[in-house]
Amino acid sequence: MAGGAMVSTNSGGGKEYPARMTLYVFLTCVVASSGGLIFGYDVGISGGVTSMDSFLLTFFPSVYKKEKQDRSTSIYCKFDSQLLTAFTSSLYVAALLTSFIASLVTDLFGRKWSMFRGGIAFILGAGINATADNLFMLILGRLLLGVGVGYAIQSVPIYLSEITPPRLRGMLNIMFQLMVTLGILIANIINYFTNKIEGPWGWRVSLAFACVPASIIAVGSLVLPETPNSLIEHGLNEEAKATLRRIRGVDDISLEFRDLVAANRRCKEIRDPWSIIMERKYRPQLAMAILIPFFQQLTGINIVMFYAPLIYKAVGFSGQASLMSTVIIGTINAVATLISIITVDRVGRRGLLLHGGVQMLISQLIVGTLIALKFGATGEATDISKPYASCVLFFISVYIAAFAWSWGPLGWLIPSEILSLEIRSVGQCIAVSVNMFFTFVIAQIFLTALCHMKYWLFFFFAGWVVVMTVFVALFLPETKNIPIEEMGLLWKEHWFWSRFIKDEENTEMGNLGRPYSYTRVQVATRVVLCRNRV
Ligand code: BGC
Repeated sequence: MAGGAMVSTNSGGGKEYPARMTLYVFLTCVVASSGGLIFGYDVGISGGVTSMDSFLLTFFPSVYKKEKQDRSTSIYCKFDSQLLTAFTSSLYVAALLTSFIASLVTDLFGRKWSMFRGGIAFILGAGINATADNLFMLILGRLLLGVGVGYAIQSVPIYLSEITPPRLRGMLNIMFQLMVTLGILIANIINYFTNKIEGPWGWRVSLAFACVPASIIAVGSLVLPETPNSLIEHGLNEEAKATLRRIRGVDDISLEFRDLVAANRRCKEIRDPWSIIMERKYRPQLAMAILIPFFQQLTGINIVMFYAPLIYKAVGFSGQASLMSTVIIGTINAVATLISIITVDRVGRRGLLLHGGVQMLISQLIVGTLIALKFGATGEATDISKPYASCVLFFISVYIAAFAWSWGPLGWLIPSEILSLEIRSVGQCIAVSVNMFFTFVIAQIFLTALCHMKYWLFFFFAGWVVVMTVFVALFLPETKNIPIEEMGLLWKEHWFWSRFIKDEENTEMGNLGRPYSYTRVQVATRVVLCRNRV
């Protein structure tokens, strides 16, 4: 993510830092996680408003006409409009471009100022969106929201990982995802109620509510402490010590402080990280930074997140019922993410991803088949019974639950934890960009793809789920309980990735920048020891 951003060092090398979750850290994380709320609110809000008649009538009259008047239109093509999808997808292009600028701001001015800017851009975007009376204002507002998301998604995970004790980092990283799902759920609930408002006000209220999480993060970031890592980067060592004492809740922070200073020195010595990550020995980490977010989006999750209300309307739900179904799905998404938080360090990443993959595959195949049976290739169906529509909803829920305890949180966690220190920030930047890019692509092409591929589109995404599940089985090493600094060892013992690392590169840098040398046997033993750590 950030150019030279550091993540605080770990207990590698047998050292232990104070790992208490102080109230201070907890509150800090709650405010910082509003960055997740912002992101989630945007994901969840667009599907609902684009299904509201008054919204379509104001900005997309041709889509409204197609939906209302042309009874013969196939369900697959009812909502096919490049402009309608541009409303949803424009945010992600802006987020993608902003995350690069945000990475500079995070380094130059600190993490909290990046979060602050995100909050302000978001408030502006929400204001313009809520008062929009033409398409230009609508898209402009959406682009500003994208700028807000770009800042938040870039700075918040770094902030969280630098402020929390190493042992709690995995759980707190997923807390960011929990906030994303809560943001989606809140948006779904707000859409449900605002849809009942007569006249053109419903969608305006929905879009205006985005100011709430944005204000939390803007105001919150003013009162949050800057991270010790960032303070050290700016030469403010005494302030860094004081902050460290406050957030760890202990007086003796000398060990952690020394390691942070050493890590900072190492970061400064690092050559251009973009050329480093291209080196052969980093091939496994580069591959993961690209493929994990790519696969996450190719699960097809955002089809449901962005367009579920339209899909439900198309399969026969009324406007209100389709928004209620979206609330149900949003609830399942949040609860299943909670399950992931509880189980991720016990079941492990591979277990969750393999299980999630199989469950997603089965449910996608069933949803595709149900739609194929009812609507065939023409997309025309006259008698869709309520039980049939509910059955579609049920299997979509099964799919969502599987995503939410596997690829949802782990699609963010794994790239953030497998990268070694020297390529961590650049690797994160790649992961975020790939995620945003494919979110954009899927948001932009889904409605057109549905019109052309019809029910086959569901099987298309099911095919990708097969590919990613096989990939996890064969190529993803288990990262559960491996300290961040020792992650590099995993590739050395892996049947495939070990070929990219020469024997003389069989070293791993310790916290203080001293290279530890391991033989192959030591590597294997050490990985096993780390994994079995409680
Ligand atoms: C994904 C988003 C998705 C959300 C759904 C996140 O992990 O990155 O694209 O909308 O999960 O909960």
